[in-house]
Amino acid sequence: MAIDVILGLQWGDEGKGKIVDYLASDYDIVARFQGGPNAGHTLKFDGKKFVLHTIPSGIFRPAQKNLIGNGVVIDPITLSKELDKLRDAGVSFADRLFISKKAHLILPTHRLLDAASENAKGKAKIGSTLKGIGPTYMDKTGRNGLRVGDIARANFMERYQALKDKHLSLLEIYPPTDFDLEAEEARWMESLNVLRQLLMVDGEYYINEALKEGKKILAEGAQGSMLDIDYGTYPFVTSSNTISAGVCTGLGVAPSQIGEVIGITKAYCTRVGSGPFPTELHDETGERLRAEGGEFGATTGRPRRCGWIDLPQLRYTIMVNGVTQIVMTKIDVLNAFEEIQAGVGYRIDGQQTQLLPYDICDQDIQPIFEAHKGWETTLENITTFEALPQAAKDYVYYIEEQLGVKVSMISTGPEREKLIVK
Ligand code: GDP
Ligand code: IMO
Ligand code: MG
Repeated sequence: MAIDVILGLQWGDEGKGKIVDYLASDYDIVARFQGGPNAGHTLKFDGKKFVLHTIPSGIFRPAQKNLIGNGVVIDPITLSKELDKLRDAGVSFADRLFISKKAHLILPTHRLLDAASENAKGKAKIGSTLKGIGPTYMDKTGRNGLRVGDIARANFMERYQALKDKHLSLLEIYPPTDFDLEAEEARWMESLNVLRQLLMVDGEYYINEALKEGKKILAEGAQGSMLDIDYGTYPFVTSSNTISAGVCTGLGVAPSQIGEVIGITKAYCTRVGSGPFPTELHDETGERLRAEGGEFGATTGRPRRCGWIDLPQLRYTIMVNGVTQIVMTKIDVLNAFEEIQAGVGYRIDGQQTQLLPYDICDQDIQPIFEAHKGWETTLENITTFEALPQAAKDYVYYIEEQLGVKVSMISTGPEREKLIVK
């Protein structure tokens, strides 16, 4: 089994990019399998910071190949900006970055539809990143979409025009939205020329041939399992399968090829956008978590909602993903807290439960917390698990015991080397 998976166990931004970048050197290929530029994966090393949206987080490891799989939706404008930043930083990608021809394209009118649909929802809005994700996946499943491979076909402009016209007629049901379509379209067409210069492959053959040759592959998830289109807090979710099952459809590989499923969780919990979040804190402690953790979106800059870790929620996402090991990130954010809480159950209508209810969006869910002693000291310069303060070790042991899965790594800072392998 040669494909290991890294994915988020919460509502995104768990630190997937950092962990993928750290582990990438142990693999031959890093592949994104779903999502699109709604993702923002932050990497920090050698005093530099990069935020990747479409490009896999293995791109800074010079010997590794990177594949944008067919399950991803691509906005050529964002992609071309990301490539500019790589070029500026002197990172080569011409022979290392591959794009599956079957990946779908985000059109400017997909973004316009996203904005119009969110505006029309008023209070019920999803809090979308407005990158056109929902409308693009709708066209994919509705069998109207344009794919990367289509840009080389003779009838591409005709098909583009037909899809744009369809979008314009759909837009008539919405109030007008502030969006300079002409300017965006010009940028998009220009960016297609950048896309044309990249290595386009039949991603499913590319990956399966690599597997036959014994290559090791790391699949990089985007968003988090609680944003999965099927198992997340619907309708406050994204439009792709963010869970491990998405690897098979998003890369064209058999389930039997999947090896380790590495689930990432913060030592606490955040969410950006609307929707249920049972352990959210609306008080000073929540604000402290936001400040200590620098919890502002990597893609949109929005403040993230903050709260304590939610164990029933994690048990659920461990279950649907088949998680084999956990990486706990941002444990250093808790350094200053004299007391740390963990959500151990919910009270709904006076009843206690550890299960996420079907109607999670409509219920008044009261979290039940268990308190833990904080360590109230810096973790700076700690490089082994043994050297962690006892209270930090105890917190990790507690999480392992509660979840029934080993914590294999603990991240103590945003930089690449700030990682303890347990
Ligand atoms: P992703 O979307 O899962 O890749 O995560 P994001 O990049 O959106 O958000 C994670 C944020 O936390 C980024 O700003 C990272 O630089 C930062 N980060 C990652 N790991 C750690 C950690 O262990 N400690 C701290 N303090 N920050 C971290
Ligand atoms: P990474 O990969 C956190 C959230 C949005 C919104 C909902 C739907 O960086 O962890 P969409 O743009 O998909 O229509 O938004 O999902 N969302 C994310 N939240 N991290 C992400 O990605 C996210 N991608 C989407 O805030 O609530
Ligand atoms: Mg992110």
